[in-house]
Amino acid sequence: MAEQAACSGQVLAAQNAGATPRRGLFIVLEGGEGAGKSTQLQTVKSCMQELGFTVECTREPGGTKLAEQIRSILLTKDPDEALCSTSELLLMYAARAQLVRSKIRPLMEQGVVVISDRFDLSTIAYQGYGRGFDLQEIKALRELAIGDFKPDLTLLFDVDVDTGMQRVLQRSSKDRIEEESRQFFTRVRQGYLDYAQQHPDEVCMLDGSGSVEQVAEKVRQVLQEHFGHLQVQA
Ligand SMILES: Nc1ncnc2c1ncn2[C@@H]1O[C@H](COP(=O)(O)OP(=O)(O)O)[C@@H](O)[C@H]1O
Ligand SMILES: [Mg+2]
Repeated sequence: MAEQAACSGQVLAAQNAGATPRRGLFIVLEGGEGAGKSTQLQTVKSCMQELGFTVECTREPGGTKLAEQIRSILLTKDPDEALCSTSELLLMYAARAQLVRSKIRPLMEQGVVVISDRFDLSTIAYQGYGRGFDLQEIKALRELAIGDFKPDLTLLFDVDVDTGMQRVLQRSSKDRIEEESRQFFTRVRQGYLDYAQQHPDEVCMLDGSGSVEQVAEKVRQVLQEHFGHLQVQA
């Protein structure tokens, strides 16, 4: 799907107008399975470094020692006991609370640009649209876990479900969530698309179906538009 016209760098630019950032930035890559998040993380990293920022990358669920332990519960399929969807939701927020407090916020306070492979929008898409949890219940958990903390920019990579699944098939083995059905991932994609449409000031949607280099070029363009004016002087 084509990028939305409302991919609005202007909002952030206005917030930061003319100022050298006093704190870091938080940039998130989102999208369904095989959308290209992990591939494009490197593009985001090098682009922000070229703008002069110190950059740290992380991922969700996980990113800290304890949160990575939670990740392994979330993604490993246990033949003896199925993880219920309520536990899945609560563990996602447990991992997120830990990641924000012990890694993202401290780094941002030092002026670092933190880039995360997935964040809270994944929960809206997967546990909300995918599993069917009420979005208001998710909102209440979010407020408990991370308050009003949110990314400065979310890059949403959109590919159709079949393309994404084809790409994932090429990977060695599927984790517990990647084993879900095509219908599940269709709902997940709809969750992303709905959120992007409703929050054009937070989410910039990119067509992830082109070649790696075509998508990377688009990523560089978007980052330049959003953050180019913040370039750190050497
Ligand atoms: N634009 C692209 N075109 C073709 N293949 C891609 C593209 N982006 C990523 N891939 C490949 O698809 C697979 C999934 O990409 P990945 O970045 O791991 O997706 P995600 O992290 O969103 O699940 C990888 O094997 C990757 O090399
Ligand atoms: Mg990935």
